[in-house]
Amino acid sequence: MAPAMFIAWTFCAMLISNNLVQGIGVNWGSQSSHPLNPSIVVGMLKDNGIKQAKLFDADGWTVSAFAGSGIEVMVGIPNNQLKGLANDYDKAKDWVKENVTKQINDVDIRYVGVGNEPFLKSYNGTHLKTTFPALQNIQKALNEAGYRGKIKATVPLNADVYEASSNKPSDGNFRKDVRSVMLQIVKFLDENDAPFLVNIYPFLSLYQSSSFPMDFAFFDGGSPIQDKNIQYTNVFDANFDTLVWALRKNGFGDLKIMVGEVGWPTDGNINATPKLAKRFYDGFLKRMANKKGTPLRPGQMEAYLFGLLDEDMKSIDPGDFERHWGIFRYDGQPKFPIDFSGKNNNKMPVGAKGVQYMDSQWCVLTEDTKNITELVPEIDYACSNSDCSSLGYGSTCNSLDARGNVSYAFNMYYQMQDQSVEACKFNGRAEIVKQNASKGSCLFPVQVLSAGERLSLAYGATIIAGLLLSLFTLV
Ligand SMILES: *[C@@H]1O[C@H](CO)[C@@H](O)[C@H](O)[C@H]1NC(C)=O
Ligand SMILES: *[C@@H]1O[C@H](CO)[C@@H](O)[C@H](O)[C@H]1NC(C)=O
Ligand SMILES: *[C@@H]1O[C@H](CO)[C@@H](O)[C@H](O)[C@H]1NC(C)=O
Ligand SMILES: *[C@@H]1O[C@H](CO)[C@@H](O)[C@H](O)[C@H]1NC(C)=O
Ligand SMILES: *[C@@H]1O[C@H](CO)[C@@H](O)[C@H](O)[C@H]1NC(C)=O
Repeated sequence: MAPAMFIAWTFCAMLISNNLVQGIGVNWGSQSSHPLNPSIVVGMLKDNGIKQAKLFDADGWTVSAFAGSGIEVMVGIPNNQLKGLANDYDKAKDWVKENVTKQINDVDIRYVGVGNEPFLKSYNGTHLKTTFPALQNIQKALNEAGYRGKIKATVPLNADVYEASSNKPSDGNFRKDVRSVMLQIVKFLDENDAPFLVNIYPFLSLYQSSSFPMDFAFFDGGSPIQDKNIQYTNVFDANFDTLVWALRKNGFGDLKIMVGEVGWPTDGNINATPKLAKRFYDGFLKRMANKKGTPLRPGQMEAYLFGLLDEDMKSIDPGDFERHWGIFRYDGQPKFPIDFSGKNNNKMPVGAKGVQYMDSQWCVLTEDTKNITELVPEIDYACSNSDCSSLGYGSTCNSLDARGNVSYAFNMYYQMQDQSVEACKFNGRAEIVKQNASKGSCLFPVQVLSAGERLSLAYGATIIAGLLLSLFTLV
């Protein structure tokens, strides 16, 4: 190639890569009843120019979908594996062998997330003793396998591992009950040049306190907090800098910090709407594009948005919004305009391509059912085995009437059960219809045809059940 051409080509390549904000990744969770085919999801990441992905496990099928994609991957280790990995170095070696070494030739694995928010207060200290030894074992196994300096192990932590006695960042320090283990972890991360990974949720600040000033959750102005000579105008900065203070006080003021999760949900709460999610992401991505950083850590930041897709199997103990964190819906279709380049172009992101849906049919309450009070057990059953998190106060389906509620529950169960005829019985009170049952802004979804593996598993189970049944009939 002639030098001039080469320069022109390099310049073009730079322009293209500049389209995306540096340091933006996404979290791709897997708690869905009907996961999309991993290759479709990776295609969608590429179509949107996303260069980093964070996973919550190291499922081989998912990880291998990143082969040749140029996307940097953080694989994860679920909390229930921490104990085993902490107690047995051989297990850590096996983990690295199976989940890193086997993939590394094709997939650009950069980080291993050991556990997921293991010190969350609600876990009552369950993972207090196992997290640090598991982290040590995994990094040691990575180093021994030849990935020292290339693949870093860290622990994705919730921002509740630190606190401030007042709401001033400069009062920040690690939570008392985890302080000693946090200091071990921080020292270890520092020695290994690995980042501190923290999840920061302005939405939860707003959700958890009725007196929280709404504007302070966003990036477009708001009643400021004065801390020494710094004015904080949003809770994200204040939260992040509380961590910086906690690190400083313990002698690690320069430790690299990455944001493991940040985002805004779109349903399941009065403040969880596409409009507010857009407001949050617009502000956040613009700051990322401007390399604004926080008052104590100005400059470029790295952050993984949470999350890519809605997950209908997540626990709703924290709130109905838990299943609606996706920038994209369950089927990979966009919900609101978002511009990953931080330029706030009012454009929908690129949705998943090649998604296959089940037939366009819905399960609804029959018209001749008059007394729906007697259906309460059926509704409970349908909802507890599917996802009714869009029905509550402030949610997209809250304006349905009582009959609409019943139909919604029936349909969610029916779709969850892959539109099995058996799943639309409900004592003869339900029927399958071909007319779209959605009402206004309340979507009655049609599920996607789930990726092959799961379906064949389900069929496998049905066949076995059928076999057992026929055996019994024979006897
Ligand atoms: C590799 O990761 C998967 C998914 O998280 C896990 O189920 C499996 O146990 C791991 N393999 C080993 C050998 O630990
Ligand atoms: C933590 O303790 C509370 C109260 O004792 C209990 O309700 C909850 O189930 C416990 N959680 C775990 C993960 O053990
Ligand atoms: C049903 O209607 C809703 C709302 O108009 C629409 O978004 C959805 O795509 C429709 N579903 C199907 C399968 O046609
Ligand atoms: C409707 O069903 C409930 C529960 O079975 C019952 O208590 C109630 O009397 C019924 N109402 C009518 C009008 O039949
Ligand atoms: C429909 O169900 C939701 C969630 O349980 C409830 O908040 C709402 O009041 C119900 N609507 C009617 C009309 O019963």
